[in-house]
Amino acid sequence: MTLELRGVAAGYGIVNVIDQIDLTVRPAEIVTLIGANGAGKSTLLKAISGLAPVRSGTISFNGERIDGYSTAARMRLGIAHVPEGRQIFSGLTVGVNLQLGAYLHRGRTDERAATLAEIGARFPVLQERLSTLAGNLSGGQQQMLAIARGLMAEPKLLMLDEPSLGLAPRLVTEIFEWIAHLREQGLAILLSEQNAWLSLAIADRGYVIENGRVALTGSGQDLLSSKEVADRYLGVGIEPQNGPGSPDNELAKRLREILGSRSN
Ligand SMILES: Nc1ncnc2c1ncn2[C@@H]1O[C@H](COP(=O)(O)OP(=O)(O)OP(=O)(O)O)[C@@H](O)[C@H]1O
Ligand SMILES: [Mg+2]
Repeated sequence: MTLELRGVAAGYGIVNVIDQIDLTVRPAEIVTLIGANGAGKSTLLKAISGLAPVRSGTISFNGERIDGYSTAARMRLGIAHVPEGRQIFSGLTVGVNLQLGAYLHRGRTDERAATLAEIGARFPVLQERLSTLAGNLSGGQQQMLAIARGLMAEPKLLMLDEPSLGLAPRLVTEIFEWIAHLREQGLAILLSEQNAWLSLAIADRGYVIENGRVALTGSGQDLLSSKEVADRYLGVGIEPQNGPGSPDNELAKRLREILGSRSN
């Protein structure tokens, strides 16, 4: 799995929101997009999944050019997009929501059932609530469901837009731990996150998006220790503001342990 964007411009109406974007996601990599509100992070994810039209440049996935493909065709190739705001079907059960995520599953019915069982094992909280209406889940559980539904299609690339938005700090931690685990299982993850500190802490690489362009790119650690990034973005979300030994620093340490042999 390799995703490659070269000189991509995309937007809505006549306006280009993102422009001249060069970006790469390699197998089993966590790549984080950070940037201010309205910088174009969500639009970038939409350009990749096919929800925002690409005006110029190219997007290729495993060497195949996909920027002219429909969203469904891109999903079939293995690109899953979990949009901002947990867009689950609240009037349907957890189980049905998960099954809907598999409608483009490449495999047979029995393979789909195996995927569902696997996801149930990975997310016991959901497994216990398969017949609960999704709208009755807590915010954190709904986010978990949105991610699990994305996984039902067995993607090679999982794009998550603001997975921690509106969640209590404890649940934010939990979501980030899953993301780290998913990467350990070989999935590539492209993440858009307001919580710059935490998302860079688990990222292999990151891109800072400003006014629709890549302003800065580097390893997660490099960006975390960049003064420019610290000044502009690290005030957002959970940050190590209480100095060494604070719970948040413990969290970062634990996340790095989960990531283990990360190369950067
Ligand atoms: N459907 C749309 N139609 C027109 N303009 C849009 C649409 N969606 C987003 N925009 C505009 O595109 C710009 C970039 O929005 P985008 O959602 O990509 O930013 P973002 O970096 O994801 O911001 P946030 O951090 O708030 O999620 C903003 O100016 C926004 O108003
Ligand atoms: Mg956004």
